[in-house]
Amino acid sequence: MKNPNVDQGQSSPRTVNDQKVPGPKGRPFIGVIPAMARDPLSFMCKCAKRYGEVVKLPIGPKRFYLVNNPEYIKHILQENDRNFRKGYELTRPVVGNGLISSEGELWRKQRRLIQPAFHREKIASLVAAMATNIGEMLQRWQSRANPSAPVDMEAEMFRLTRHNLIKTIFSLELPEEIDRAGEAFEAGLEYLQQLMKAPFKLHALIPTPTNVRFWRSRKKIDHLIYAMLAARKDGNGKNGDLLDLLLNASADAAHDTMSDQQLRDEIMTLLMTGHETTASALAWTWYLLTRHPEEETRVVEEIKSVVGRRTPTAEDLPKLEYTGMVIDEVLRLYPSTWIFARQPLADFELGPYRIPRSAMVFLTPFIMHRHPDHWPAPETFQPQRFLPEARAERHPFAYFPFGGGPRYCIGDVLAKTIMKLVIVIVLQEFRLQQVAPDKEILPKPKATLRPGGPIEIRLEPR
Ligand code: HEM
Repeated sequence: MKNPNVDQGQSSPRTVNDQKVPGPKGRPFIGVIPAMARDPLSFMCKCAKRYGEVVKLPIGPKRFYLVNNPEYIKHILQENDRNFRKGYELTRPVVGNGLISSEGELWRKQRRLIQPAFHREKIASLVAAMATNIGEMLQRWQSRANPSAPVDMEAEMFRLTRHNLIKTIFSLELPEEIDRAGEAFEAGLEYLQQLMKAPFKLHALIPTPTNVRFWRSRKKIDHLIYAMLAARKDGNGKNGDLLDLLLNASADAAHDTMSDQQLRDEIMTLLMTGHETTASALAWTWYLLTRHPEEETRVVEEIKSVVGRRTPTAEDLPKLEYTGMVIDEVLRLYPSTWIFARQPLADFELGPYRIPRSAMVFLTPFIMHRHPDHWPAPETFQPQRFLPEARAERHPFAYFPFGGGPRYCIGDVLAKTIMKLVIVIVLQEFRLQQVAPDKEILPKPKATLRPGGPIEIRLEPR
């Protein structure tokens, strides 16, 4: 990417890429590790505000670059994506060589095989089962011993999404099996979070309580997955779930079938990537809707006119346009994947800067989504920003909650389908009231962007 405003002639003493990238100096040797460890989100927001489009962050001996310009983000994720690898080796003990962490030819082959299972019409075929499952989960709320006691909406959304995803992916019926699978990926997430904070890679080998819990539950979930695969291959295979779709995709491919180990890695990947992201986004949805009753009323009116009191169907979902805009705006303010990274394979240029191949690049939807040059009144909740005409005026990479380019999230339609169904079914049944509507809840950056305090909500039957 060349900057046309700068003389690029051979004889010029200033080439396009000889400018020093601005950024905090940090302390000798450790750089900005203490600030990043304390509060990475606030620290990076401050750096972006102070230093601008590209910020150099010395983290220990390694150089990290925080990129806050939509054109540069497009360049990295889409136009020049072949110059980057993900470098997500850290996740391998949990998800193996699944889609989120694989690279190169293996990734290309797997993406080609799995993509069809996530097509809009395939996800539509799962809607009826998902809606029934969500309805059943809500019966728990209806039969609570103390209906006026507030519920912890974050915990509830985690539970609901976990059950929904486990049933959508492999139709498990037995509550103990669901809990066992749920336990295993909770342990996996905890393990990953600890590893991300650990200064040394060796940490993964030390028998800390988190590591031991993870090692044990990994055995259990592997056993469960392999048993299920064996049962399906013995002919017990018409469940109409995502696992059927994956197995069919594998069987239909002329040459590229998936080994059981690869299927196991892909199933773990889908559970790990789909659960916390969708659950966090739903928790934030209730936080925002209860703080903006006028928006909640618009959503309720739309549900009344499109769906009424019946169970929502796949045909209803595209008609719930305002609800879709609310989801987009929730993911603008609180993008579950608040940060992700790329490792350049060769030096490259971003405007006037040259970034070396030894570096790591950070892309932060959270920061870009609140950039005042692209979002007027960026801190306020305004779903109308996602009206088609407003959307058309923005740079497409000013908003990238699901990433971009070839490695765009494979589960975006599934995530938005689950979110829409949950919003409709909850609002059909309940009026929601936040216990402390004036108390601001700050985001807490974990593996996903979680609420930093409890979202306590009173539910009143409609
Ligand atoms: C609101 C919910 C979700 C958000 C915000 C989200 C966000 C993202 C983002 C930003 C990426 C790109 C990461 C990168 O390029 O490094 C990604 C990739 C991915 N997501 Fe999601 N995701 C969500 C839900 C889901 C669901 C429900 C699934 C599947 C069950 C899923 C499966 C994946 C997979 C497999 C990848 C890797 C794709 C590849 O590299 O080819 N995600 N997601």
